[in-house]
Amino acid sequence: MNLKLTPMMKQYLEIKQQVSDALLMFRLGDFYELFFEDAKTASRVLDITLTGRDGGEQERIPMCGVPYHAVDQYLAKLVQEGYKVAICEQMEDPKSVKGIVKREIVRVITPGTAILDDDGEQRLLAVCIHATDAIEQEASLYAVALMDMLAGDLWMGETGDEDEVFNWLSLHRPVELLLAESSTSSPFWEEKLEKLGPLPVTFLSLRKQSVQDWRHSLSQMSAFETFPAQLESLTVGWAALSLLLQYVQETQRQTTLHIKQPILLGQEEILKMNPAAVTHLELFQTERTKEKKGSLYHHLNRTQTAMGARLLRRWMERPLARREPILERQEAISIFLSDVIARSALQQTLSNVSDMERLLGRIMFQKATPRDVLKLGLALQKVPAIREIANLPVQRLQQLLHQLPDVTHLSSLIVHQMVETPPVQLDAGPIFREGVDAKLDEYRDLSRNGKQWLAQFEQRERERTGIRTLKVGYNRVFGYFIEVSKTQVNQIPPEYERRQTLAAAERYTVAELKERESAILQAAEEAAHREAELFADLCRQLVEKRHELQLVSEVLAELDVYASLAEVAALYGYTCPEWTQEACLEIVAGRHPVIEAIPDLRFIPNDTRLSSDHNFMLITGPNMGGKSTYMRQVALLVLLAHMGSYVPAQSMRLSQFDEIFTRIGAADDIHSGQSTFMVEMMELAHILRHATGRSLVILDEIGRGTSTQDGLALAASVMDFLQATNKPLTLFATHYHELTQHAHQLPGVQNASVAVAESGHHIEFLHTLVMTAADRSYGIHVARLAGIPDWVLSKAQSYLSSFASEATLHLAASEENVPFGVKTKAEMHSEPQNSYYAAEILRALAELDVLQITPLQALQKLEEWSARAKEVMSWVSSKS
Ligand SMILES: Nc1ncnc2c1ncn2[C@@H]1O[C@H](COP(=O)(O)OP(=O)(O)OP(=O)(O)O)[C@@H](O)[C@H]1O
Ligand SMILES: [Mg+2]
Repeated sequence: MNLKLTPMMKQYLEIKQQVSDALLMFRLGDFYELFFEDAKTASRVLDITLTGRDGGEQERIPMCGVPYHAVDQYLAKLVQEGYKVAICEQMEDPKSVKGIVKREIVRVITPGTAILDDDGEQRLLAVCIHATDAIEQEASLYAVALMDMLAGDLWMGETGDEDEVFNWLSLHRPVELLLAESSTSSPFWEEKLEKLGPLPVTFLSLRKQSVQDWRHSLSQMSAFETFPAQLESLTVGWAALSLLLQYVQETQRQTTLHIKQPILLGQEEILKMNPAAVTHLELFQTERTKEKKGSLYHHLNRTQTAMGARLLRRWMERPLARREPILERQEAISIFLSDVIARSALQQTLSNVSDMERLLGRIMFQKATPRDVLKLGLALQKVPAIREIANLPVQRLQQLLHQLPDVTHLSSLIVHQMVETPPVQLDAGPIFREGVDAKLDEYRDLSRNGKQWLAQFEQRERERTGIRTLKVGYNRVFGYFIEVSKTQVNQIPPEYERRQTLAAAERYTVAELKERESAILQAAEEAAHREAELFADLCRQLVEKRHELQLVSEVLAELDVYASLAEVAALYGYTCPEWTQEACLEIVAGRHPVIEAIPDLRFIPNDTRLSSDHNFMLITGPNMGGKSTYMRQVALLVLLAHMGSYVPAQSMRLSQFDEIFTRIGAADDIHSGQSTFMVEMMELAHILRHATGRSLVILDEIGRGTSTQDGLALAASVMDFLQATNKPLTLFATHYHELTQHAHQLPGVQNASVAVAESGHHIEFLHTLVMTAADRSYGIHVARLAGIPDWVLSKAQSYLSSFASEATLHLAASEENVPFGVKTKAEMHSEPQNSYYAAEILRALAELDVLQITPLQALQKLEEWSARAKEVMSWVSSKS
């Protein structure tokens, strides 16, 4: 370390060494300052001015800072950008120390552990480790643990299947990931991390331990009172959970108290979705623009509270797979659908309830302000009213009300003790009312009397000195003073001692004032101190009641979601799905929930009828006809039904599904560095391996990313495979018309198409599904609608005619038990190509103006045409 550095910079560098991977925010008076590289980064990210500071060296040290009272907004920005930030506070009162104030890091804020005032969206911290990195036992297992630190929610699971690891992580979308150091060289992580998007990763250096040791260290962190029984069978999972909590402890510098029972990943009874389905179905954001608006979540979300919104999201991510709880939810929605008064009363009351779950988290981590606590109290005050409104005769609501604890004592404790608008900072004004605490009242009286005395003193001195403008004032450096304007200083009495000279006035003190000053200041300080004590005590009582408070928040969230789903059902005329035992999906007049809500769009409802006998629907028809919309709509209705929600349809009957698989569109997977076709095939491979007879499979234009022949061949064999194996309920859209013939020969497959009305060159999309194959494609018509130049269109039309007359890409069953036959590659290539060459030569000859070209050009043309003519002739002779 450089010896010339100032003592403060030396202190800074010592502290900075402890947190090399975080930006260090160093408290200096009313500011948090950043230095060196940290300052450059922060000034860029936060868009604040970079300045310099003398640090004892020749060059000034780069520096920037943010005011301490506004630090949260800056922290939020840094954390959203994926940075970690260490907060270093002054641990002593600068007034009471000589020299350098003691400073310490009090917290490290990371994306997954940040406690911020933000949009209230769930932010998960994840850890994923492989058994070989952490436990002494031999096992080829991954463990994943995920945690919402503020809410205390926990998920964990073990698996040997890498696909599953990726599914868990991508479904939960953690904002921060902890991995073992050895993962840096693992090809698996290299590929997966790219797919998970820009995700900050912390690498942990691990030491192998026995499973028992991991369990022991977990119990040391007192996360659970008892270990939940369902965790007993885990091995490396213990290590994952332990590491996760250790990380929280290290960053927050305190134990996590309020963890809920972990949910075991992979063993939940939920309707699964492949990660691509979440994207393709636009559940949380639109596929192309990545906006929330236009997503199913945005459409469904009429919740009034932040915890309700998060629960709705969770219901969408993990729809139920068991019938009983689904029916309970349906019942709860149905009652709020019919009882409009109860619904609006509930929503009205909930709209005044703050984000209890987050408030509670802030209290747990000692980050709550007095205002936060009051908000919690006001929310709790609503509980009795909500209990009354939701007291409706359905099972689930009765269960919830039964669970809902009585928190009247807590709400009165808060609301009756605290003032109406408590401060956002601890030391910024009164927190508690008069009469709450005798000591506090006493200090306040002292300080108040002191102030009264000051007023009297001022009056007295004015009269005594005859200086009418004499004032008594206060500042932090000089304390209380008597201020006299310059023009009247000649009138001051001799006992006035000068303290400070200003441009227009002089400030004095006298012995009497000095004496009172310390009494007044001391009383104010004692009052503030006492308030802080009382506040900490109140928070402690709330921490003790955390389980009850969490329960209140959970119950309110669930009620909120019921009201929200009922409201959507009422607004858009949804119906309640019916459940069947045998594999079945019957929808009458189903609509796409999001698209039907677009203003000025007349949405055409469509039916769906799939069963184990007719499990496969092959959908053809023009571009823009509505194929993709239809298939997404069917998947969304199945998802909604499994959430327990009502659905946009005239009626719907279905059996329980185990998983929704989708492969839709050519969403270029730019992140992953894979080609479009490769991604498509990887997703397809996953579907073919995992789909069962209880799955819903949506395949949109499989094979379109490669040559027509390869694509067609693949698409046809995928059909064969699905029908020969588990026969999942499948919707399959394609532009390969050859497949409609093939469909006739495969049991269980039905042809369907989206209808169009045609007049001349123009077509009208009817968006109606009919149960016959489309006879042709309308690609060129759609190209015309899109504004492709006429020249290109008519040329395309003439190519199309020549292909149609000469080339056939037909599929026919052959004797060798190949379900279809395609022509050889050479044949496929040569037929259309040769007829095209022949036509080209003729056209070129017809267009040639012999008088306009040079003899050399003529020779060149002749050579070119002759070469092509030879190709055509040799093909013709090979055919005869
Ligand atoms: N049932 C419907 N009622 C009204 N409009 C619809 C309906 N279905 C689709 N549309 C409209 O038609 C547009 C095109 O639909 P979609 O993308 O589903 O067509 P497609 O058949 O998949 O086309 P392509 O073959 O080019 O992929 C949609 O953006 C939507 O606005
Ligand atoms: Mg489409």
